[in-house]
Amino acid sequence: MPTLTNKRILLGITGGIAAYKCAELSRLFTRAGAEVRVVMTRAAQEFVTPLTMQALTGNRVLMDLLDFEAEAAMGHIELARWADLVLVAPASADFLARTAHGRADDLLSTLILATSAPIAIAPAMNQGMWSDPGTRQNLDEVRGRGYHVFGPAEGDQACGDVGPGRMVEPADLFASCAELFSGEPLAGRHLLITGGPTREAIDPVRFLSNHSSGKMAYALAAEAAAAGARVTLISGPVSLPTPDRVTRIDVTSAEDMLAATMERIADADAFIGVAAVADYRPANQTAGKIKKDKASMAIDLVRNPDIISEVAGLNPRPLVVGFAAETEDVTANGREKLERKQLDLLFANNATETFNSDEVAATAISAEGEVEIPRARKEAVARKMLELIAERLPVSVEAPA
Ligand code: C5P
Repeated sequence: MPTLTNKRILLGITGGIAAYKCAELSRLFTRAGAEVRVVMTRAAQEFVTPLTMQALTGNRVLMDLLDFEAEAAMGHIELARWADLVLVAPASADFLARTAHGRADDLLSTLILATSAPIAIAPAMNQGMWSDPGTRQNLDEVRGRGYHVFGPAEGDQACGDVGPGRMVEPADLFASCAELFSGEPLAGRHLLITGGPTREAIDPVRFLSNHSSGKMAYALAAEAAAAGARVTLISGPVSLPTPDRVTRIDVTSAEDMLAATMERIADADAFIGVAAVADYRPANQTAGKIKKDKASMAIDLVRNPDIISEVAGLNPRPLVVGFAAETEDVTANGREKLERKQLDLLFANNATETFNSDEVAATAISAEGEVEIPRARKEAVARKMLELIAERLPVSVEAPA
């Protein structure tokens, strides 16, 4: 089955007998991993109940432009921005006419004007209405704007006519929508990312740690999820909000991070070790708070496990991507690390410029050579990094349905 992991589908239902097929359609989307929000016109509500659509999608169905409560939860502009695809199914002749003229007199038509997401429509109407020159003109107009038009299919119509005007069957409509995303290289891939610092306890109130902010890992997680990947982010203590559509597992120490990684590595397509893992931890953690009664003290440290090396040693193993924050000879040290840790790809950068900063530059190092990623905001750099990662993922073979 095609995957629509993390995809946000705004399903607009307009008034037509085919509206009942949207129940099945929304099930296909949610089963494929998409989130569906439904907007119904007034006429659509005569054919299928909002409660049905709400129960199937798990989201409140939206009906009115001037709904105070709905606006407070997610305003219509926010909803237009939320969507990765707007699908209007069934699209009635009236809807087509209104949208062709750029009307914004109900919630659905307003969302269509406001969104920058791709728009698809599945027309459904009587065959005479479909053949009418007015409808043809409206169709040409929206096609010219880049709308994807799926159908209509030919056959028996509810009104007794035979001809073009039936809404495309839900399974075919689903397949056509999934096809729109099929070019995305990270669609359906599972990325396991570690991020942030680790904290190594000295006693119940003190720890060893570092200045890692987690910003790079969080930017990668957010961008990967937006590109259709399933993302698990294993995070040390940071003060960042969890990116949308990302599963976050909070850990504290390097040993916790290793355990959380190993628990989830089996189905990962790529492991991206961004975390600044503490290299050492106190050999013993005292049960009580250490008193400051001595003029000096020493803490015995032992080496922490190297998480990324452990992942690289697995067989089979995912694509393994590391980071190296260096203060000198960034590229040479990065390449040495790539080889020693047996990584597929490593992003090296200057530690003094990277930690806690919103901007970063990096050198991508692999067996094939080096690629410079110029200094930019971490989000933009994350997108470039994900392109390089996606190129190296083995081509996935889809299991037969
Ligand atoms: O050895 P160094 O810490 O410079 O290597 C950096 C890379 O190794 C990063 O990808 C980091 O997440 C990973 N690493 C790890 N476990 C450690 C130390 C580093 O996964 N204990």
